Amino acid sequence: IKNIGVLTSGGDSPGMNAAIRAVVRASIYYDIEVTGFIRGYEGLINNDFIPMDRKSVANIIQRGGTVLKTARSEAFRTVEGRKKAYENLKAQNIDALVVIGGDGTFTGANIFSKEFDFPIVGLPGTIDNDLAGTDFTIGYDSAINTVIDAVDRIRDTAESHDRLFIVEVMGRDSGLIALRSGIGVGAEAIMIPEANMNADDILHKLEHSRKDKASKIIIVAEGDDTGGAFKVGEILQEKYPHYDTKVSVLGHIQRGGKPTCMDRVLASRLGVAAVEGLISGESGVMAGQVNREIIFTPFDHAIKHINAEKVSAKWLKLIDILSF
Ligand code: F6P
Repeated sequence: IKNIGVLTSGGDSPGMNAAIRAVVRASIYYDIEVTGFIRGYEGLINNDFIPMDRKSVANIIQRGGTVLKTARSEAFRTVEGRKKAYENLKAQNIDALVVIGGDGTFTGANIFSKEFDFPIVGLPGTIDNDLAGTDFTIGYDSAINTVIDAVDRIRDTAESHDRLFIVEVMGRDSGLIALRSGIGVGAEAIMIPEANMNADDILHKLEHSRKDKASKIIIVAEGDDTGGAFKVGEILQEKYPHYDTKVSVLGHIQRGGKPTCMDRVLASRLGVAAVEGLISGESGVMAGQVNREIIFTPFDHAIKHINAEKVSAKWLKLIDILSF
């Protein structure tokens, strides 16, 4: 391998910059040139790239967002778009890619690497943690720390006013942000797409939770079937007017900010592993960390088989036991 292309695609996540830095530095270490593509797959299609050196990734390990920018590319979903991308890569003599993103990014990478027999290794960069083949994705730890910081503040005012707060966190198809941060803030209950809980279940839980606790916090994942925090708040307020109910949607603050040390180290380790993986012939796989070991998981497995352990009943029971 002589020249590796690197890009970030889909929703950004804290730690993407640390991952880019690791890919660039590892490539240089192994005497491989490295080219950064701007706005993910859009950069491949539009030939929008920058040659990268040690200096171009200096002082970015601590920064949120992505210096390469990111996008969700519609054009890359088309055969013509991917063909254009392949021709551009060939013209630049780029012979392998590292793509940093989530399930959408890997779906595209999977098709592209098979279509053109092009070596690609993926790095799990998403705050959602919804990929199999890694215990944690890059950005998840930072996002849940942002959530607990915000909810701790909400708890202060909720406690002063004896209020019930419904807090909505991100996760379109996954309740993993809600689950872990819910445990971290001592939530009374969580509502996630994987657990099928409705507003009546929540009411039941509230009735059975500690009576001596003045404030109540329910964490709702954005993807929960009930229809979001405002809907839950409406239902609860109507059925139980004696609760003084407030709703707070945390939104995109969860995607920004400095990556935690855990995300920086994970991104650094996986970035180096991606380059070493390409050198030793890996392709069509995501580099992940499971039980502290680096493993490579085929893209289609990483996308479709979210580790059942991540959302198992034992985690939900923890919330019940701790809020009892
Ligand atoms: O996949 C990451 C994520 O933040 C999801 O949790 C969320 O549903 C989605 O991206 C939001 O996407 P956008 O920033 O495009 O609105």
